[in-house]
Amino acid sequence: MNPQDTRALIVGITGASGAPYARRLLHVLAAEDVPLHVVASAAARQVYSLEIGRPLEEDLPDQAVLHDERDLAAPVASGSFPARGMVIVPCTMGTLAAVAHGISGNLLHRAADVCLKERRRLVVVPRETPLHRIHLENMLAVTDAGGIVLPAMPGFYHRPHTVDELVDFVVARVLDQFGIAQNLIPPWTGDFSS
Ligand SMILES: Cc1cc2nc3c(=O)[nH]c(=O)nc-3n(C[C@H](O)[C@H](O)[C@H](O)COP(=O)(O)O)c2cc1C
Repeated sequence: MNPQDTRALIVGITGASGAPYARRLLHVLAAEDVPLHVVASAAARQVYSLEIGRPLEEDLPDQAVLHDERDLAAPVASGSFPARGMVIVPCTMGTLAAVAHGISGNLLHRAADVCLKERRRLVVVPRETPLHRIHLENMLAVTDAGGIVLPAMPGFYHRPHTVDELVDFVVARVLDQFGIAQNLIPPWTGDFSS
């Protein structure tokens, strides 16, 4: 992978429920030849194995570079690494809090902090319900810092029949945020008749 490739996307995976979102996003991006740097928390690896049925490291697209969350010397820890941005999918309330308060306690938090300071796109896909005031305030803080909060909230107006279609709805919204063309979910046409 060319280290100067500005198309690179950092994909943070945390220990929130929703590993299928991360899995689908990574495989769609790989099909689009997007260079991928994956930072997974320890909790993410546990929840991924539980929800997908195989370890994260055995399920990544070939081109994805997997970083340990403890590796604070990884390229993505520096603003000099020319990534196009980062998505944290799914994002726990703990990681949301760290990002909201600029606490770079691990590589995932640091990479997100770097995206904010470099004014690069940071998309956070939180998964928790219900939400208390601190969760909501942290989402506002991330928004105020320039990040985009994109909750894992699939719509139903495309009449999904499968879980995969619900997953695709959220993944499509993430791709839209990075200007990556997608045909997972057709755009709403305003036609109520179909
Ligand atoms: C099966 C499972 C599902 C979880 N789902 C969520 C969730 O949806 N949202 C959340 O904020 N935390 C969830 N957690 C808790 C986090 O994994 C936990 O707070 C962890 O410390 C988060 O660390 P991380 O942010 O570094 O990944 C879940 C834990 C487990 C074991």
